[in-house]
Amino acid sequence: MPPTTLAKRGVSDDGGVSDMDATRRFYDTVAAAYAAALPDTRAEAPLDLGMIAQFVADLPDGDGLIVDAGCGTGRLLAHLATLGASPLAGVDLSPAMVTRAREAQPDIRVEVAELTALPFPDATVRGILCWYAIIHSDADEVTAISREARRVLRPGGTLLMGFQAGTGTRRIEHPYGHDVTMDAVLHDPATIARALDAAGFDVTAVAERAARAREKHAQGFVLARRR
Ligand SMILES: C[S@@+](CC[C@H](N)C(=O)[O-])C[C@H]1O[C@@H](n2cnc3c(N)ncnc32)[C@H](O)[C@@H]1O
Repeated sequence: MPPTTLAKRGVSDDGGVSDMDATRRFYDTVAAAYAAALPDTRAEAPLDLGMIAQFVADLPDGDGLIVDAGCGTGRLLAHLATLGASPLAGVDLSPAMVTRAREAQPDIRVEVAELTALPFPDATVRGILCWYAIIHSDADEVTAISREARRVLRPGGTLLMGFQAGTGTRRIEHPYGHDVTMDAVLHDPATIARALDAAGFDVTAVAERAARAREKHAQGFVLARRR
Protein backbone atom coordinates (compact mmCIF):
# COMPACT_ATOMS: atom_id res chain seq x y z
CA MET A 1 0.00 0.00 0.00
CA PRO A 2 1.46 3.45 -0.88
CA PRO A 3 2.16 5.85 1.99
CA THR A 4 -0.51 8.37 2.93
CA THR A 5 0.41 11.80 1.57
CA LEU A 6 -0.71 14.30 4.18
CA ALA A 7 0.19 17.46 2.31
CA LYS A 8 1.84 18.41 -0.93
CA ARG A 9 3.62 21.71 -1.20
CA GLY A 10 4.00 23.73 -4.36
CA VAL A 11 1.53 21.65 -6.33
CA SER A 12 -1.78 23.33 -5.59
CA ASP A 13 -3.50 25.52 -8.17
CA ASP A 14 -2.78 28.72 -6.32
CA GLY A 15 0.90 27.99 -5.88
CA GLY A 16 0.98 25.97 -2.67
CA VAL A 17 -1.28 27.28 0.07
CA SER A 18 -1.01 26.22 3.65
CA ASP A 19 -2.58 22.95 4.72
CA MET A 20 -2.65 23.46 8.45
CA ASP A 21 -4.82 20.43 9.13
CA ALA A 22 -2.43 18.20 7.24
CA THR A 23 0.53 19.59 9.18
CA ARG A 24 -1.33 19.00 12.44
CA ARG A 25 -2.23 15.42 11.44
CA PHE A 26 1.33 14.75 10.40
CA TYR A 27 2.78 15.78 13.75
CA ASP A 28 0.00 14.08 15.69
CA THR A 29 0.94 10.89 13.84
CA VAL A 30 4.69 11.08 14.41
CA ALA A 31 4.75 12.69 17.90
CA ALA A 32 5.83 9.64 19.89
CA ALA A 33 8.45 8.58 17.36
CA TYR A 34 9.71 12.19 17.04
CA ALA A 35 10.16 12.39 20.81
CA ALA A 36 12.14 9.15 20.80
CA ALA A 37 14.29 10.12 17.80
CA LEU A 38 15.04 13.67 18.97
CA PRO A 39 14.98 13.64 22.76
CA ASP A 40 17.21 16.68 23.20
CA THR A 41 19.59 18.97 21.28
CA ARG A 42 22.32 16.42 20.55
CA ALA A 43 21.44 16.64 16.82
CA GLU A 44 22.17 20.38 16.82
CA ALA A 45 25.61 21.60 15.69
CA PRO A 46 27.66 23.91 17.90
CA LEU A 47 26.77 26.78 15.53
CA ASP A 48 23.06 26.10 16.02
CA LEU A 49 23.42 26.07 19.79
CA GLY A 50 25.53 29.22 19.54
CA MET A 51 22.67 31.00 17.77
CA ILE A 52 20.34 29.94 20.59
CA ALA A 53 22.85 31.15 23.18
CA GLN A 54 23.03 34.50 21.37
CA PHE A 55 19.22 34.66 21.32
CA VAL A 56 19.16 34.22 25.10
CA ALA A 57 21.97 36.76 25.57
CA ASP A 58 20.03 39.31 23.50
CA LEU A 59 16.77 39.00 25.47
CA PRO A 60 15.80 42.36 26.93
CA ASP A 61 15.71 42.72 30.70
CA GLY A 62 12.38 42.93 32.48
CA ASP A 63 9.06 41.16 32.43
CA GLY A 64 7.71 38.92 29.73
CA LEU A 65 7.58 35.35 28.57
CA ILE A 66 10.14 33.66 26.37
CA VAL A 67 8.10 31.59 23.93
CA ASP A 68 9.12 28.47 22.04
CA ALA A 69 6.78 28.87 19.05
CA GLY A 70 6.28 25.52 17.35
CA CYS A 71 7.82 23.84 20.38
CA GLY A 72 6.91 20.32 19.32
CA THR A 73 7.81 17.89 22.11
CA GLY A 74 9.46 20.68 24.10
CA ARG A 75 13.09 19.66 23.70
CA LEU A 76 14.13 23.29 23.12
CA LEU A 77 12.14 24.40 26.16
CA ALA A 78 14.40 22.14 28.21
CA HIS A 79 17.47 23.62 26.53
CA LEU A 80 16.32 27.21 27.08
CA ALA A 81 15.76 26.39 30.75
CA THR A 82 19.36 25.16 31.07
CA LEU A 83 20.49 28.53 29.65
CA GLY A 84 18.55 30.34 32.35
CA ALA A 85 15.76 31.67 30.14
CA SER A 86 12.67 32.26 32.29
CA PRO A 87 9.70 32.36 32.40
CA LEU A 88 9.13 30.03 29.45
CA ALA A 89 6.03 29.11 27.46
CA GLY A 90 5.44 26.90 24.46
CA VAL A 91 2.87 26.72 21.68
CA ASP A 92 2.35 24.20 18.93
CA LEU A 93 -0.23 23.31 16.32
CA SER A 94 -0.27 19.61 17.16
CA PRO A 95 -2.15 18.45 20.27
CA ALA A 96 -0.07 15.27 20.41
CA MET A 97 3.18 17.24 20.36
CA VAL A 98 1.79 19.57 23.05
CA THR A 99 0.89 16.57 25.23
CA ARG A 100 4.48 15.34 24.97
CA ALA A 101 5.85 18.80 25.79
CA ARG A 102 3.60 19.10 28.85
CA GLU A 103 4.66 15.67 30.09
CA ALA A 104 8.33 16.58 29.65
CA GLN A 105 7.97 20.10 31.08
CA PRO A 106 5.09 20.04 33.58
CA ASP A 107 6.01 23.43 35.05
CA ILE A 108 5.90 25.26 31.73
CA ARG A 109 2.72 26.60 30.14
CA VAL A 110 2.31 24.86 26.76
CA GLU A 111 -0.74 25.49 24.58
CA VAL A 112 -2.15 24.38 21.26
CA ALA A 113 -1.95 27.43 19.00
CA GLU A 114 -0.94 28.50 15.53
CA LEU A 115 2.08 30.64 14.83
CA THR A 116 -0.24 33.17 13.18
CA ALA A 117 -2.51 33.41 16.26
CA LEU A 118 -0.30 33.41 19.33
CA PRO A 119 -2.21 33.41 22.64
CA PHE A 120 -0.41 36.44 24.08
CA PRO A 121 -1.37 40.13 24.35
CA ASP A 122 0.34 42.78 22.25
CA ALA A 123 3.89 43.79 23.19
CA THR A 124 4.23 41.51 26.22
CA VAL A 125 6.67 38.78 25.15
CA ARG A 126 10.46 39.11 25.64
CA GLY A 127 11.59 36.55 23.11
CA ILE A 128 10.39 34.01 20.55
CA LEU A 129 12.35 30.97 19.46
CA CYS A 130 10.90 29.54 16.26
CA TRP A 131 13.03 26.42 15.76
CA TYR A 132 12.24 24.43 12.61
CA ALA A 133 8.59 25.46 12.89
CA ILE A 134 8.35 27.33 9.55
CA ILE A 135 9.40 24.28 7.59
CA HIS A 136 5.87 23.73 6.28
CA SER A 137 5.15 27.43 5.72
CA ASP A 138 5.31 29.19 2.38
CA ALA A 139 6.45 32.80 1.91
CA ASP A 140 3.00 34.30 2.61
CA GLU A 141 2.75 32.30 5.83
CA VAL A 142 6.23 33.39 6.89
CA THR A 143 5.08 36.99 6.41
CA ALA A 144 2.01 36.36 8.59
CA ILE A 145 4.10 34.53 11.22
CA SER A 146 6.62 37.40 11.30
CA ARG A 147 3.86 39.99 11.77
CA GLU A 148 2.30 37.96 14.57
CA ALA A 149 5.68 37.63 16.28
CA ARG A 150 6.09 41.39 16.06
CA ARG A 151 2.62 41.93 17.52
CA VAL A 152 3.30 39.96 20.71
CA LEU A 153 6.96 40.97 21.22
CA ARG A 154 7.92 43.96 23.31
CA PRO A 155 10.04 46.58 21.51
CA GLY A 156 13.58 45.21 21.77
CA GLY A 157 12.29 41.64 22.09
CA THR A 158 14.26 39.01 20.20
CA LEU A 159 13.24 36.44 17.62
CA LEU A 160 15.33 33.53 16.36
CA MET A 161 14.25 31.39 13.44
CA GLY A 162 16.01 28.15 12.52
CA PHE A 163 15.07 26.26 9.36
CA GLN A 164 16.30 24.06 6.54
CA ALA A 165 17.99 26.31 3.99
CA GLY A 166 17.57 26.19 0.24
CA THR A 167 14.90 26.70 -2.38
CA GLY A 168 11.77 24.80 -3.31
CA THR A 169 10.29 21.94 -1.37
CA ARG A 170 11.37 18.48 -0.33
CA ARG A 171 9.33 15.37 0.21
CA ILE A 172 9.54 13.77 3.67
CA GLU A 173 8.91 10.06 3.22
CA HIS A 174 8.45 7.44 5.93
CA PRO A 175 9.43 9.84 8.72
CA TYR A 176 10.30 8.19 12.00
CA GLY A 177 9.09 4.83 10.68
CA HIS A 178 5.56 6.02 9.80
CA ASP A 179 4.00 5.25 6.45
CA VAL A 180 3.14 8.87 5.62
CA THR A 181 4.66 11.59 3.44
CA MET A 182 4.73 15.34 3.88
CA ASP A 183 6.29 18.20 1.97
CA ALA A 184 8.62 20.65 3.64
CA VAL A 185 9.58 24.12 2.42
CA LEU A 186 13.22 25.18 2.18
CA HIS A 187 13.92 28.84 2.94
CA ASP A 188 16.65 31.23 1.81
CA PRO A 189 18.10 32.93 4.92
CA ALA A 190 18.39 36.27 3.09
CA THR A 191 14.71 36.07 2.11
CA ILE A 192 13.71 35.31 5.70
CA ALA A 193 15.82 38.27 6.85
CA ARG A 194 14.03 40.56 4.37
CA ALA A 195 10.63 39.27 5.53
CA LEU A 196 11.53 40.03 9.14
CA ASP A 197 12.82 43.49 8.25
CA ALA A 198 9.56 44.20 6.40
CA ALA A 199 7.56 43.01 9.42
CA GLY A 200 9.31 45.47 11.75
CA PHE A 201 12.48 43.75 12.93
CA ASP A 202 16.14 44.75 12.85
CA VAL A 203 18.07 41.67 11.75
CA THR A 204 21.14 41.16 13.96
CA ALA A 205 22.58 37.90 12.61
CA VAL A 206 22.10 35.68 9.56
CA ALA A 207 23.88 32.33 9.33
CA GLU A 208 23.87 29.37 7.01
CA ARG A 209 25.87 26.18 7.40
CA ALA A 210 26.31 23.14 5.20
CA ALA A 211 24.53 19.89 5.93
CA ARG A 212 26.37 17.67 8.40
CA ALA A 213 26.06 14.10 9.58
CA ARG A 214 22.76 12.65 8.28
CA GLU A 215 21.22 16.01 7.32
CA LYS A 216 20.03 16.35 3.72
CA HIS A 217 20.06 20.15 3.59
CA ALA A 218 21.95 23.21 4.68
CA GLN A 219 20.58 24.91 7.80
CA GLY A 220 19.68 28.59 8.13
CA PHE A 221 19.30 30.89 11.12
CA VAL A 222 18.08 34.47 11.41
CA LEU A 223 18.21 36.43 14.66
CA ALA A 224 16.31 39.71 14.89
CA ARG A 225 15.21 42.39 17.32
CA ARG A 226 11.71 43.90 17.25
CA ARG A 227 11.91 47.61 16.41
C1 LIG B 1 10.08 19.91 12.87
S1 LIG B 1 9.03 20.17 14.27
C2 LIG B 1 10.11 21.12 15.32
C3 LIG B 1 9.68 21.05 16.75
C4 LIG B 1 10.66 21.68 17.74
N1 LIG B 1 10.77 23.10 17.52
C5 LIG B 1 12.00 20.99 17.65
O1 LIG B 1 12.95 21.60 17.15
O2 LIG B 1 12.07 19.84 18.04
C6 LIG B 1 7.90 21.40 13.67
C7 LIG B 1 6.85 21.76 14.71
O3 LIG B 1 6.22 22.96 14.31
C8 LIG B 1 4.83 22.82 14.49
N2 LIG B 1 4.17 23.71 13.52
C9 LIG B 1 4.29 23.68 12.17
N3 LIG B 1 3.56 24.67 11.63
C10 LIG B 1 2.96 25.31 12.66
C11 LIG B 1 2.08 26.42 12.74
N4 LIG B 1 1.66 27.05 11.65
N5 LIG B 1 1.65 26.82 13.96
C12 LIG B 1 2.08 26.19 15.10
N6 LIG B 1 2.93 25.14 15.08
C13 LIG B 1 3.36 24.71 13.88
C14 LIG B 1 4.53 21.35 14.25
O4 LIG B 1 3.32 20.93 14.85
C15 LIG B 1 5.76 20.71 14.85
O5 LIG B 1 5.59 20.36 16.20
